[in-house]
Amino acid sequence: MPSTRSPRITVFPNDRAAARALARRITDALAANPRLVLGLPTGRTPVGLYHELAAHAAHGHTDFSHVTTFNLDEFLNVGPDHPGSYRQFMEQHLFSRVKIPPERINFLNGSAADPPAECARYERAIADAGGIDLQILGIGTNGHIGFNEPARQLQSRTHCVTLKPETRRSNAALFGGDAAAVPEKALSMGMATILQARSIVLLANGRSKASCIERVVNGPLTTELPASFLQLHHGVDILIDKSAAERLER
Ligand code: F6R
Repeated sequence: MPSTRSPRITVFPNDRAAARALARRITDALAANPRLVLGLPTGRTPVGLYHELAAHAAHGHTDFSHVTTFNLDEFLNVGPDHPGSYRQFMEQHLFSRVKIPPERINFLNGSAADPPAECARYERAIADAGGIDLQILGIGTNGHIGFNEPARQLQSRTHCVTLKPETRRSNAALFGGDAAAVPEKALSMGMATILQARSIVLLANGRSKASCIERVVNGPLTTELPASFLQLHHGVDILIDKSAAERLER
C-alpha cells in the first residue's frame, strides 16, 4: 500500500532517474493545470531536472506558456544580469530552453535599492498569483532550504539572510571558483512562504546529503536543521538517489 506518511520518501537508482520522475510529475501537473504556479530552486541538484523539462518542451510534449514561476532566492547586491546571479543560472538551465512568458517569471532582485521592500513585493506577488502549487526544493549540506540557514530562530517570510561559510563555498563555482567572491548576504523566501506551498518536492542526491536526509525524516524539528520543518507539511515528497538514502537503509 502506498505510504500516506509525509514526508514520503522515494529512492531512485541514480539522480537521473529521480530527475526524470520529477520532470514527469511537473509535466503531468501542467497538463492537469496549465496555469500551475511553480516554486523553483537553483544549485547543482536541479540541473538534471531542468534538462529533462527542456527535453519535454523541445519534443512539444509540454506547454509552459501559462505557467508562473517563483525562484526561492537570489544573492544580495547581484543584479539579474550578473553572471553569478541565480537569475542567470535559471536563464542558462531552464528559461532559455522552455517558453515561459517573461512576465510570468518571478525573481527576487538582488540589486533592489530597498531590500525589505523587495522582499515584501515578492510576498505580495506570490499571494497575487494565488500561492505556490508545487514548490521544488534542494537541500544544503547544512540542512538549509532556500537560503534559510540553520539558526536559533528562523524567519517566516521573504527576508535578507547572512550566508554560512559552507553555503558560500558551495556556490563558489558561480563566482569564478572563489568562495570569498560569493556575496555574504542573499534574499530568500522564508520558512512559512515555502511551507504554504500546496505541495512540496525535495530533491537530493549524493552521499553529502545523506545525513541531513536521515535527520529530516527521523530527527526532531529543529531550527538547526531548517529542512526538518518539512515534517509539518502534509504533502511533502522526498526524491533521492541511493547515496542520499544511505543512512535510511541501515
Ligand atoms: C538554491 C537553494 C538552495 C539549494 C541547496 C542545495 O536556490 O534553494 O537551498 O537547493 O543549497 O544546493 P546544491 O543543489 O548545489 O547541492
